[in-house]
Amino acid sequence: MKIIKSKHLITACFAVSTLSVSAHKKIVETPIMGWSSWNTYRVNINDELIRKQADAMVSTGLKNSGYSYVNIDDGFFGWRDENGLLHTHPERFPNGLKDISDYIHSLGLKAGIYSEAGANTCGSLWDADKNGIGVGLYGFEHQDADLFFNKWGFDFIKIDYCGAGQQLELDEKERYTSIVKAIRSVSNRNISVNICRWAYPGTWVRDLARSWRISSDISANWNSVKHIISKNMYLSAFAGDGHYNDMDMLEIGRGMSRAEEETHFGMWCIMSSPLLIGCDLTSIPESSLSLLKNKELIALNQDCLGLQAYIVARCGEGYVFVKDLEEKRGKIRAVALYNPSDEVCSFSVPLSVLELSGKTKVRDLINMKDENSVKDNLKFDVQPHGVKILKLEGENRLEPSVYEAERAYLNMYDDLAKRKRGIVAMPYHGASGGMIVSNIGGQKDNYAEWREVYSENGGKYKMTVYYVPIEEKGREINDRRLEISVNGNMVILSDFESGNTGTVLSREITVDLMKGYNVIRMGSRYTWSPDIDRFVLEPCNE
Ligand code: GLA
Repeated sequence: MKIIKSKHLITACFAVSTLSVSAHKKIVETPIMGWSSWNTYRVNINDELIRKQADAMVSTGLKNSGYSYVNIDDGFFGWRDENGLLHTHPERFPNGLKDISDYIHSLGLKAGIYSEAGANTCGSLWDADKNGIGVGLYGFEHQDADLFFNKWGFDFIKIDYCGAGQQLELDEKERYTSIVKAIRSVSNRNISVNICRWAYPGTWVRDLARSWRISSDISANWNSVKHIISKNMYLSAFAGDGHYNDMDMLEIGRGMSRAEEETHFGMWCIMSSPLLIGCDLTSIPESSLSLLKNKELIALNQDCLGLQAYIVARCGEGYVFVKDLEEKRGKIRAVALYNPSDEVCSFSVPLSVLELSGKTKVRDLINMKDENSVKDNLKFDVQPHGVKILKLEGENRLEPSVYEAERAYLNMYDDLAKRKRGIVAMPYHGASGGMIVSNIGGQKDNYAEWREVYSENGGKYKMTVYYVPIEEKGREINDRRLEISVNGNMVILSDFESGNTGTVLSREITVDLMKGYNVIRMGSRYTWSPDIDRFVLEPCNE
């Protein structure tokens, strides 16, 4: 069995930007790994504390395992003077932050800082930290960026949205665009930007940030971990090329059971979230430390392709996630059998669903041990709140045929709840994976897209589109249109049938696929489209 060697992931995978190595192999910047002060200390941080945590990152061996960022979150702010210059907190950081960032760098680590898109910080609103008033970036973008990155030497910034959203009601896209422009104009270093809007903010975010939060704040309990995983389940298409959905800082080492910590860490790894430890590193329990240093899980998170696993099947209450490792469309894939329920879940997953066949080697990454090879079905019982994280190596890679709504890129999607009828993946009882894409169409840009529809040899395919029948409401039924574009060539379907709630109906067309990757888009420029469950492609035998 080929074991994942933790070949020094960082050296192996780190590259300046997306580089094409071959058609199938890509190297991208991997999710950041490090420590952040917020979960344990909130605003109660100080100079000595940050230095001790940086020291502990080295002495615990976490640095050698790949953790490199020491991030100072909210709590360092002092005041802004009459020249607009930002000062640090007089008691917590009497010597300023330049010394600390120098110290962090002297240990061979990277330094991260925090600010706010508006004028007043989250700490000033939620933690009664008066020093957080008037110290945000609003109106001081260039001046603060110069201070943080040129004068103090920070490498990372998390930009929150408390004052900006609650008090100023600014527009997220515009606000973050001007901040990131300012950062880029004052520094030509590759500053890692994290956008913290506690919800998926929209597809524009990928041009601005390396990572973005997708949920409200995590806390050290199972419900919170489960909630964040559920938020990230249908966002895989928005990550990629070195940009990641941020599931928030880790709560490992803060009191959850071993099994829950394994699920927490395992899912953050396979979903390619940034890994920022949130506990006190000077007193971290041994079992949590060894989990965080698990080489095979870290290699999964830091895989060169930088992909987020997506859902391919449901097994009762459980979910099956998969992603390619090392090489796109190769024979090595990572799989998570995730059981969020309170009962044992028996998984039985045909290898074909995972696009593999032949004798397939199976490695358990949490326990770092080989399992028996399989030929047809992957079978495991997974404990409540548990996960099995596996690395598979098959003999053959199969051509995919089913493309679920769960995996679509929704061009106008955001989770900000500002638009009434925004495009969204939503539960539907009769859908094959449990979800459909709803509210497609109405305008040109409001489409769902499958960007990696793969054909081994190219040619004609029968495409069966499964849609939700439309309830007859006035004349709406006749208005529905589905414009299907295959690599830009459009077919228009209309006259969809009505039917019972909970069922899906289908329509067939013939499409031409190119050899390799194809892009299939579904939308409607003028009216709504029917809700889509999935489409299936079968080569036509000519
Ligand atoms: C928000 C963020 C947290 C943390 C605090 C700081 O709540 O989501 O991660 O940064 O602000 O006040």
